[in-house]
Amino acid sequence: MEKVIFEYHSQPTSYVPAADPAAVNKHIPAEFLGAEEVTLPQTCEQDVIRHFTALSKLNYSVDNGFYPLGSCTMKYNPKVNETVADFDGLAGIHPYSPEECVQGALKIIYELESFLKEVSGFSGMTLQPAAGAHGEITGILLIKAYHQKNQPEQKRNVILVPDTAHGTNPATAALAGYQVRQVKSDNQGDIDLEDLQQNLGLDVAALMLTNPNTLGLFEKNILEISHLVHKNGALLYGDGANFNALLGLVKPAELGFDVMHFNLHKTFSTPHGGGGPGAGAVGTSKDLIPFLPVPQVIKKGKNYFWEYRQANSIGKVRSFYGNFLIAVRAYAYFLALGAEGIAKVGRQAVLNANYLMHKLAKFYPVPYHRTCMHEFVMTPHQAWSVSTLDIAKRIIDYGFHPPTIYFPLIVHEAMMIEPTETETKETMDTFIQALEQLAAEAVQNPELLKKAPLTSPVGRIDEARAGRQLILKYEKGRDTLLT
Ligand SMILES: Cc1ncc(COP(=O)(O)O)c(C=O)c1O
Repeated sequence: MEKVIFEYHSQPTSYVPAADPAAVNKHIPAEFLGAEEVTLPQTCEQDVIRHFTALSKLNYSVDNGFYPLGSCTMKYNPKVNETVADFDGLAGIHPYSPEECVQGALKIIYELESFLKEVSGFSGMTLQPAAGAHGEITGILLIKAYHQKNQPEQKRNVILVPDTAHGTNPATAALAGYQVRQVKSDNQGDIDLEDLQQNLGLDVAALMLTNPNTLGLFEKNILEISHLVHKNGALLYGDGANFNALLGLVKPAELGFDVMHFNLHKTFSTPHGGGGPGAGAVGTSKDLIPFLPVPQVIKKGKNYFWEYRQANSIGKVRSFYGNFLIAVRAYAYFLALGAEGIAKVGRQAVLNANYLMHKLAKFYPVPYHRTCMHEFVMTPHQAWSVSTLDIAKRIIDYGFHPPTIYFPLIVHEAMMIEPTETETKETMDTFIQALEQLAAEAVQNPELLKKAPLTSPVGRIDEARAGRQLILKYEKGRDTLLT
């Protein structure tokens, strides 16, 4: 096990020239240095470098191997995106630069918004939100502003959310001040239309819908759903986290969605945050454009400008114009694939998922016997004495990242698998072989699965305790989570 950095104590040698912290401090005004001395690890440069390099090797990433985390769309991010985002003229610009000095950057924002409008069918777009969930709250605030402007006398204080929804949907609705009412799914995995009709009253502001839903199924009744919602005076919010399944096949605006967020890190191959910057672009119908966050980039003649004049705007939802270099990566991805490549993304994502589902269904039950979209759900056999958690942990020993587990909540012991369009048949076949072998182990040697993972730096941890007893700071001698 790698030590923590505070446990290293080695004297620097004069053969590794290092910066002298005291010399650096001399240049910092005293008031910024703080009154208390900070306890820093006392060790030498080479141990610091080796420590962090060792830690980085313990991480699993999509650059290490297959990462079939359903709903999260861990597609491989092509390195050309990074090359472009690293161009001096893009990485080095300051957000306060005058418009005339950053015409190229404004053009990228304007064009990326146009590309997103083109593939989604929406008329309005903003790149400002910094994540999918941030896009959700932006979209729901747009809906709120729309109702307040158009029907001020009508109290619409409820948002409908299906029982398959991602947790961020009800959380978003509640954060925006709405009551959340759940809508049931039927035995096909679609929204139960009767239940929807019963829940659709004049108090409903919107239905938040993910299509394909989190079971990986295309909502067959989408046109009827959008008709029912609109007839009631409510709006249809689209959670676009699964948009890669539709890319090039269907435009969500044509299905009746009024507003939808796009997780650029899922569909458009930008890095997944990991706490870092992301982007959750939001597309809207024409009716919602007046409420979009400011500023918007507009084009007059050949020139681009920031437009702040928008009387009904919900305001700003993030500093400056969102995470610009993430937008650059998505822009590079669009250009590299071109219209022809983009048009094939959805087809390949759906084909890969169906290939995997078809092969794995021989060993693991699949709850819905339908063609899936870009992901699918399967479970362990009821007769097995191992749980989904045991299978997920054992997958680590085969060198893969586990799939999403115990989500969506309506499938008991769910494992949710999403290969994405970037994986090759060879990689998927290796995964299938591993899961076939694992299914045999589940019958012959369940105890082995219960002890897994056996090959990772950290074994089975007490996840409930880790969640409830958050100790985020190193305390000497306290090896809490592993005991
Ligand atoms: C269906 C769905 N909706 C919303 C989100 C939230 O997106 P983000 O993680 O970008 O905030 C996710 C993320 O996994 C998701 O899968």
